[in-house]
Amino acid sequence: MQEFQVRKAAKDAKARPLQAARAVPLSEITLEDGQRTRLAWGELNRVLGGGIVAGSLVLIGGEPGVGKSTLLMHAAAQVGKAGKVLYVSGEESGQQVRMRAQRLEALEPGILLLAENDLDAICEAIRAEVPQLAIIDSIQTVTDAGFEGSAGSVTQVRESAGRLMRLAKEIGVPIFLVGHVTKDGSIAGPRVLEHIVDTVLYLEGDRRQELRILRATKNRFGSAEEIGVFAMGEAGLEEVADPSAALLATAAPSAPGTVIVAALEGTRPLLVEVQSLVNKNDNSMVRRIANGIDVNRLHMILAVLEKRLQMSFGKSDVFVSVAGGIRITEPAADLGLALSIVSNEYNRPMPDGLIVIGELGLSGEVRRVGQLERRLQEAARHGLTRALIPAGSKAGRPSGLDVVEVRTVAEAVSAAFPSPIKSGAFIRRPELTVS
Ligand code: TYD
Ligand code: MG
Repeated sequence: MQEFQVRKAAKDAKARPLQAARAVPLSEITLEDGQRTRLAWGELNRVLGGGIVAGSLVLIGGEPGVGKSTLLMHAAAQVGKAGKVLYVSGEESGQQVRMRAQRLEALEPGILLLAENDLDAICEAIRAEVPQLAIIDSIQTVTDAGFEGSAGSVTQVRESAGRLMRLAKEIGVPIFLVGHVTKDGSIAGPRVLEHIVDTVLYLEGDRRQELRILRATKNRFGSAEEIGVFAMGEAGLEEVADPSAALLATAAPSAPGTVIVAALEGTRPLLVEVQSLVNKNDNSMVRRIANGIDVNRLHMILAVLEKRLQMSFGKSDVFVSVAGGIRITEPAADLGLALSIVSNEYNRPMPDGLIVIGELGLSGEVRRVGQLERRLQEAARHGLTRALIPAGSKAGRPSGLDVVEVRTVAEAVSAAFPSPIKSGAFIRRPELTVS
């Protein structure tokens, strides 16, 4: 038996007076930028679409421990410098939150803390304070007494978010919700909320590494393609305004299997290092492990290499990974990945300063990619000297970059590893191992 205290929530969906909805000419709709509160961090503004929109409901999802509370405390401090922030913590005590804030140097007088789980009390506090920003950490700890089920259940999470949404719109207060996602993508988590909220941001990154990526996957007030990049350190997070530089700083140049590719994230090209390891394995079932890249993409690329370059991976484990915990979702990194596998298999490092851009088709052809010029500019800006790109690309060529057009993966291999490989010919192992 379980005892429930039922306190029926007041119906806050008030019957609105019937007003005839009027259609207006599209051209007469004004493009006022809403009321946005800009934060000190450009990286945060970028993912939010330019700042925090009044009355918006924003979900910040991520695995436990990735840094959601840390990021939001930084945001609270930036708003709390000049305004009022209500930080509702259902997970940590006031002391714990204070300790974190102290460590982040975020103890702004404008930040109010409420340690509370009850939705009615939370809504009352938001109404009473009317802050410039309200943060609920986390939505899984909030319970609406008007509904059955424990905190974190699908009903509770959905109903609480629905009520907070109406409140945000009614009084124009932006509300940020923290939502934990577990590795297996737990059901009662943020997925249920994605349809309700205005904006969905996911904080990604390996807990053991520095880099954190805040990725917009839905945004009613901006692009849903943008990412913000941060680094976790001793004193919390820092924004990383030039992620390519940060990613390349740790690159292992001239190691066989290491290739630099340009992945486009939103409007911004990122130079990232892709690594492969091909290892003979005669004993057991071979493995294909991909970190930061879709494993199906890897299977496809291996198949193309087997068919077009007569390579053989039947008795090899293949591991690929993207540095810095970045996840590459676009096919423009295909060719780079293919060359990194070739490079490691034949133990031949890629030439210094080379960037590889191109999608790979099933017949080994190199396909054109979008926004090539942007990617080339980023490469030139970071001191790379040579680029392999798809043939027929019309992009302008930045100065200082030697651009080589390639039509097939075989051509790309010849261009990347000049001396012992005959142009156009497929490569055989013995030929390559002679250096
Ligand atoms: P936290 O924001 O509590 O994660 P979440 O709210 O997503 O569960 O971050 C927890 C991790 O961040 C923890 O592993 C320690 C690390 N961390 C730092 O490395 N430096 C810091 O200054 C802070 C506050 C946390
Ligand atoms: Mg937390």
